[in-house]
Amino acid sequence: MINIAIDGPAAAGKSTIAKRVATNLGYKYLDTGAMYRAITLFFHENSDTDLNKLAELIDIEFSQEGKLFLNDKDVTDKIRESHITKNVSQVASLREVREFLVDLQRKIASKKGYVLDGRDIGSVVLPDAELKVFMTASPEVRAKRRLIEEHSRGNMIELSTLIDEIIERDTSDMTRDISPLIQADDAVLVSTDELSIDEVTNEIVELANKKVIGEK
Ligand code: CDP
Ligand code: CDP
Repeated sequence: MINIAIDGPAAAGKSTIAKRVATNLGYKYLDTGAMYRAITLFFHENSDTDLNKLAELIDIEFSQEGKLFLNDKDVTDKIRESHITKNVSQVASLREVREFLVDLQRKIASKKGYVLDGRDIGSVVLPDAELKVFMTASPEVRAKRRLIEEHSRGNMIELSTLIDEIIERDTSDMTRDISPLIQADDAVLVSTDELSIDEVTNEIVELANKKVIGEK
């Protein structure tokens, strides 16, 4: 078994495709963005958190069904609320937060057979991952995809607002000092503008199968 790192900007299709690739290969999926969102929620609810005590204060667990538990509370839906999305990038730029989560992510993936998606998986969390994918699409295409999701949740946000929010978050993720979003030298670039979910999934499964054969 190998580990697969999928990085890229917001709404490129990382989590949808990472889940499908994992199911297809019989691997496990780890949503590292959800972990940063959970910490953002914790800070929102505990404004005087001591950044040096994160490991003692915060327990993050994923259930078999992919639900996220923050200190035993199901926060799966709460971490997708727009105030969390607006603040997560700032929280993710804190050194203490990144050290805590990168450590946890490495421990989880040490067993191999994981598909991880995020921003710094191929560059920092698992620089030795056997397969690295950098997934992108234009900001307009990504915002249109998010618009469908937001409208189906009853949040009738405008497309132009979503484009602005996506560009703002990408810029912040790409320009932060610690572990910025970058394409690792050995990552395969996959542009999903013109590709369906199935097409992208198949491409990555094929790449993974080649790596697995190469390992033997
Ligand atoms: O799903 P979406 O693209 O909206 O974002 P996400 O994957 O849930 O990640 C939310 C935020 O967490 C990102 O905008 C980054 O600021 C941060 N993040 C990170 O810094 N490093 C990761 N490995 C994953 C997420
Ligand atoms: O995880 P990330 O933020 O990169 O993106 P996502 O949440 O997996 O995907 C954002 C939206 O784009 C979802 O509603 C997907 O169904 C959709 N999508 C698509 O329509 N076509 C693709 N090739 C990839 C994703």
